[in-house]
Amino acid sequence: MAETLIGSEIIKLAGEIKERIAQGEQIYNLTIGDFDPAIFPIPETFTQAIETAYQQHETNYPAANGMMPLRKQVSAFLQRKGNLSYSPEEIIISSGARPLIYALYMCLLDPGDKVIYPIPSWNNNHYTHLGRGERQEIEATAENNFMPLAEDIAPHIQDASLIAVCSPLNPTGTIFSKEQLSAICELILAENKRRGPNKKPVYLLYDQIYWQLVYGENEHYNPVDLYPEMRAYSVCIDGMSKAFCATGVRVGWAFGPRYLIDKMVSICSHIGAWAPKAEQMAAAAYLAQEDKVDQYLIETKEKLSQRLNAFYAGLQKLKAKGFALDAIAPQAALYLTVKFDLQGHATADGKLLKNNHQVHRYILDEAKVALVPFGAFGTDDSPWYRLSVGTTAMEDIPQIISRLEAALAKLQLAVKKV
Ligand SMILES: Cc1ncc(COP(=O)(O)O)c(C=O)c1O
Repeated sequence: MAETLIGSEIIKLAGEIKERIAQGEQIYNLTIGDFDPAIFPIPETFTQAIETAYQQHETNYPAANGMMPLRKQVSAFLQRKGNLSYSPEEIIISSGARPLIYALYMCLLDPGDKVIYPIPSWNNNHYTHLGRGERQEIEATAENNFMPLAEDIAPHIQDASLIAVCSPLNPTGTIFSKEQLSAICELILAENKRRGPNKKPVYLLYDQIYWQLVYGENEHYNPVDLYPEMRAYSVCIDGMSKAFCATGVRVGWAFGPRYLIDKMVSICSHIGAWAPKAEQMAAAAYLAQEDKVDQYLIETKEKLSQRLNAFYAGLQKLKAKGFALDAIAPQAALYLTVKFDLQGHATADGKLLKNNHQVHRYILDEAKVALVPFGAFGTDDSPWYRLSVGTTAMEDIPQIISRLEAALAKLQLAVKKV
């Protein structure tokens, strides 16, 4: 398993860019699904609560399923923000969302079990590999905002153990419509009815780590809120990392049926994937301050959506000028989905861009703008890219757009010459 496991492509690419920046190259790095703490600090009261927790010596082992005060606050947060009723016993806390996704895969898969997930998506290919499962990838398309459709899942569901979806979606910053998610829930409910009580049901992993970062008129939907019967088959993933710009604080949670949560607790406790006790106590103290939480979310959403909208508007202007690119209107998270249709174009020095790998390199080397190709999310040779705004200063955006324009203009000239 380890011999054939592929490490994170995004971390590898980010490492290369960091190295080039360290060597003196001026690159705009829009690759990381993370925040620059100078632009997006964690809430001040959360910082203070962490300091207080250490002063109060909250430094021994936390409870295996997470500290009760935090599980109570998460329960209240889910009720208040999502109309979801989960008791503290149906909630597990861990060191971010990753160990919980891993634990759920471990919990549900026997070797060879089938996992259905869309591409592009974040790391499901790797988690399936770790779980020794069989991959069933569903190719999602731009026409559907890259969200998977029930009709594409349906032909594969009969012998599947797990369907893993994510909304808002990393890498696209798009979300399920109510109809899209409802159709998937109905498919799962019908399939489990067909299987009956003596067969292992098909479960839904619903990763909603970005659900507090949804913009404008767009609305987040949860399978259990839409269909209470889905409660028995759904485990949802969430946490502090994205909503509170706290990727390095490492506090995540999952909620689902108690018998599954208990098994995830056993798996996580053997790994030792607890969130640090002081951070858990601090997260509990912070989440209890509802006004502060709401204010922080309003401000963070404003800052993120401003950046996403500015990039989107800039790229639309380039498109209107006739450049071969496109973008999907931002709906959520910190990502914008951008397309460069440049395969087959020639560079100023006459080099033909034969595939999207070469297009990616051209944008990086010529415009000095670093994006993550959808290839890093399981999609082969795609012209689509993830643009992340978590480290971007507003004032840099016009310059980034100009650099892209200059690089694209050179290509167009070259094409005309060729
Ligand atoms: C969809 C999705 N789920 C989970 C995670 C992991 O979150 P954490 O940093 O809390 O482990 C990420 C991080 O990028 C993500 O994009």
